[in-house]
Amino acid sequence: MLSPFNESVFAEAIHPLARPRKWLRTSATAVLGLSLTACSLPALAGSPAAGSSAAKAGYNRDIRPILSENCFACHGPDKNQRKAKLRLDLREAALEKDAIVPGKPDKSELVKRIYTVNPEDVMPPPESHKQLTPEQKELLERWIAEGADYEPHWAYIKPARPAAPETKNPKWVRNQIDAFVLHTLEAKGIRPSPEAATPTSARWTGC
Ligand code: HEC
Repeated sequence: MLSPFNESVFAEAIHPLARPRKWLRTSATAVLGLSLTACSLPALAGSPAAGSSAAKAGYNRDIRPILSENCFACHGPDKNQRKAKLRLDLREAALEKDAIVPGKPDKSELVKRIYTVNPEDVMPPPESHKQLTPEQKELLERWIAEGADYEPHWAYIKPARPAAPETKNPKWVRNQIDAFVLHTLEAKGIRPSPEAATPTSARWTGC
């Protein structure tokens, strides 16, 4: 929330009839510019999790939901419903039938079946009324290219503290969260803004 003083500065700066003195206009621009930078920081820091193409496809996060929604009904744990004797919920079973050839998407039957336009072969079959989006096909293919790692259900994975990433400017980093923020900024070629005086940063927290 801008203080009353800043609101009047801002109004003067944008009002067509107002003729603010030059320093007023400059300070309004500075206030706006700085708050935008401050507000966009958390969004930037969170972006790698939002599926940036550099991040490796994760089984629990990216792959299991696709297979579970579109494939496990016929290639999952339920023996009575299983088709073509193929299980895709167990890595070994999928590998044994060459549905998945880790590191070789072009040799994997799964990849052929999700991309084919032949309605006789395409998976999931048209009668299941399920369809993969181009992004889902791309994710499955990339996951196989990256080695097709399965993960146990997340509830069975012991939480582990991720190591703080390395940064080019370790002096800027005061705690581990800083390291994650700076790492992302550096990857995007953005330099952090200079530190604000305490009253200014207190105002920013309202954004
Ligand atoms: C409604 C049931 C059904 C669903 C859902 C389904 N499949 Fe299938 N799938 C079949 C049947 C039936 C066959 C055997 C006939 C054939 O080969 O086309 C098969 C065969 C396959 C094969 C070839 C197996 C082999 O050994 O030749 C692969 C690979 C495959 N499915 C992958 C998938 C994937 C990946 C999905 C999800 C994206 C999926 N299927 C969803 C029914 C299904």
